[in-house]
Amino acid sequence: MKLILIGLGTVGRGLLRIFHDKRAELESLDGFRPIVIGVVTRTRGTLYHPDGLEIERLLSLERLGDYPDTPGLERGWDAERIVRASDADALVEASPSNFQTGQPALGLCLAALATGKHVVLANKGPVAVAYDELREQAKQAGRLLRFEGTVMAGTPSLRLGMQALLGCRIESARGILNGTTNYILTQMESGMSYDDALAQAQALGYAESDPSADVDGWDAAAKAIIVARALFGKHLTFDAMQVKGISAITPEDIAFARASGERWKLIAEVSRDGGSVPPVRISVSHPLAGVSGTTNAITYATDLLGDVTLIGAGAGGAQTGFALLSDLLEIYTDSTSR
Ligand SMILES: NC(=O)c1ccc[n+]([C@@H]2O[C@H](COP(=O)([O-])OP(=O)(O)OC[C@H]3O[C@@H](n4cnc5c(N)ncnc54)[C@H](OP(=O)(O)O)[C@@H]3O)[C@@H](O)[C@H]2O)c1
Repeated sequence: MKLILIGLGTVGRGLLRIFHDKRAELESLDGFRPIVIGVVTRTRGTLYHPDGLEIERLLSLERLGDYPDTPGLERGWDAERIVRASDADALVEASPSNFQTGQPALGLCLAALATGKHVVLANKGPVAVAYDELREQAKQAGRLLRFEGTVMAGTPSLRLGMQALLGCRIESARGILNGTTNYILTQMESGMSYDDALAQAQALGYAESDPSADVDGWDAAAKAIIVARALFGKHLTFDAMQVKGISAITPEDIAFARASGERWKLIAEVSRDGGSVPPVRISVSHPLAGVSGTTNAITYATDLLGDVTLIGAGAGGAQTGFALLSDLLEIYTDSTSR
């Protein structure tokens, strides 16, 4: 399977590491052999080779410009040119999420679909702002669009709702979908101030230097929008949602909740009627109350099974790399079974 990889950061490298470390294991899965023919970064250059690039070398290089010269290698082609000119089977999008426009990833995904490539995303932006456009383009092109990694990394939250629970009616979804805020709230439970907990989350690489997308609730809101669209066909926008972050929660709020047998959690809620992301107090006996640190969880309320809760990793290179891999394997299996 020939691939173009946009973004070679935590997630892109996580995927390449899996390709490298699990090469034999993957090949034993009906001969799945990923060949990376293009990589694109913002500051470290781009590479394209129609026969494939060496994954081990891509992992070891700081600058893609240091990749050794080989006949057929193109350096410095822009992403659009690589996408349009290549015969890749799939585009893998792992560049930063833009919640305003989804760009530049959105344009690349549309170009990939228009030129007959499947599209797999960890990037939430295009899915949150332009799901319908992407879906329509994929349908017209007869290609698959997959985005498991956009919600709860490799923990299969979307696949559970869209595939395993098919036949159940899912009434609503409630989840802890942002690991940074859950980590901060967990640290505050053990006596830390909000500022210290945020600083610790940044030092550990959980929160970015500008943490506003996480602490103000927008990252969780993007995931809620994706869940609502994918599971309920509900068209939600950021403007239509009540979104509130955790920055106003004080140690006194935490102590007050504890005295009542409750815990603060930033909960993303969606149903066919709409969605919201509020910090709420939930009973310590609720399944989501026990989800601590950077762990994520989602509870689907279903008609036939009652509540089904999935708990697992919500971030990380290997964890999100796995999400991309699982989507690619689904596409590969689909194409080999035809
Ligand atoms: N990290 C996680 O745990 C996680 C989990 C789920 C989803 N995601 C999503 O996955 C995506 C990637 O996350 P990450 O943590 O890997 O980010 P990251 O470590 O910041 O890496 C981003 C990569 O994208 C490249 N890039 C930036 N702007 C670009 C552009 N305009 N065109 C092409 N490449 C560009 C960067 O290039 P340079 O190398 O030159 O900087 C870098 O290689 C994001 O959308 C994120 O929301 C991440």
